[in-house]
Amino acid sequence: MLHGKRILLIISGGIAAYKSLDLIRRLRERGAAVRCVLTESATQFVTPLSVSALSEDRVYGDLFSLTDEAEMGHIQLSRDADLLVVAPATTNIMAKMAQGIGDDLATTVLLATDKDVLVAPSMNVRMWEHAATQANIATLRSRGIRFAGPTEGAMACGEFGEGRMAEPLEIVAEIETYFATSAPLAGRRAIVTSGPTLEAIDPVRYVANRSSGKQGHAIAAALAGMGAETVLVTGPTNEAAPAGVDVQQIESAQEMYDACMGALPADIAVCAAAVADWRPALQGDSKIKKAQGTAPPSIEMVENPDILRALSAAGNQRPALVVGFAAETDNLIDNATAKLARKECDWIIANDVSPETGTFGGDTNTVHLITATGAEDWPEMQKSDVADRLAERIAGHFDQTTEAAQ
Ligand code: PMT
Repeated sequence: MLHGKRILLIISGGIAAYKSLDLIRRLRERGAAVRCVLTESATQFVTPLSVSALSEDRVYGDLFSLTDEAEMGHIQLSRDADLLVVAPATTNIMAKMAQGIGDDLATTVLLATDKDVLVAPSMNVRMWEHAATQANIATLRSRGIRFAGPTEGAMACGEFGEGRMAEPLEIVAEIETYFATSAPLAGRRAIVTSGPTLEAIDPVRYVANRSSGKQGHAIAAALAGMGAETVLVTGPTNEAAPAGVDVQQIESAQEMYDACMGALPADIAVCAAAVADWRPALQGDSKIKKAQGTAPPSIEMVENPDILRALSAAGNQRPALVVGFAAETDNLIDNATAKLARKECDWIIANDVSPETGTFGGDTNTVHLITATGAEDWPEMQKSDVADRLAERIAGHFDQTTEAAQ
């Protein structure tokens, strides 16, 4: 559930800080990356060393540390996360959040963030019930801050009542619910194809192409990062499996076709693979021998199934949004527009794959998004940025269609 999610955990200075160490462990067990910020008072309860050992990352605490600001400024820290969690959240830090005070790294990060924030309060029952605390909580709730707990029970100070920090597993459950329900593509299923296909000539030789899988894998990662349940059907590549993605390894176009059809139904299909259009008609069971003085063998080719076209024509199993790629060396936009019509997909991403562009195998791509309404030119970007932008467009498309249906 939390594979690939990046959590920025802010630990403020309360006795329940020791439970945050277990929270880090539980989040990491579920595949989340946890980066931690400690307030100065938190260091009275837990040490940066334990937090760093459990999170397997460095720990941040000083707004005025030149090294920290140079390597990872407070703005970057606040943006490089999918969710901010404050646990434990003392009355003090909640009061500062409500008033917009930024007088240390933790509160500055909370002011600078563009991400959602989940707070796990922890304090004495009287402090929890105090009118000032309750007013601050009402303010924070009205601004969309989420709460996990507090719960009721015996307290470290000897009193009993509401104010105990929720148990780590309860906080984890809140975080999982957050990602399951609020991610833009939560509840959607996506199929992505990536990499080359290999078409066997005999047991040792094959016809292939130069696709590295960088673009397709980045798209699968971006869709999964936005909450889509993602199946990645990929030919052989050196790319690592994206976190939280169901990766299905194939070799030939026929195997890719079978895997894609088997992965239906889906809401989204993105065909970024460089699928061989043809395969050798005969694939020998034994190695073709080179005989002295004989002419080289000629290889008869037959057409492979067209996966993109088949997904577009999948009847009542057709994904609501089918996106193809067009790899062209000439007349990019015209050829890609013709491909959009021929393959009957909804969008096509045109990219120039002339050798001088370095698109095949490179880290960047310059693409054009072609839809029924025309072509949109995107600047040259990292393939991961192309993937993020495409995933955002896909999420926007589903937002619009949901709104239109209401
Ligand atoms: O893998 P990288 O090194 O990162 O490079 C990325 C890329 C250049 C491979 C990628 O951006 C790209 O352009 N992928 C599509 C390559 C391709 O096969 O294009 P095409 O114009 O030949 O095919 C058009 C579309 O039909 C594509 O979506 C393709 O996946 C699909 N197709 C083609 C043939 C076939 N038999 N089945 C298909 O589904």
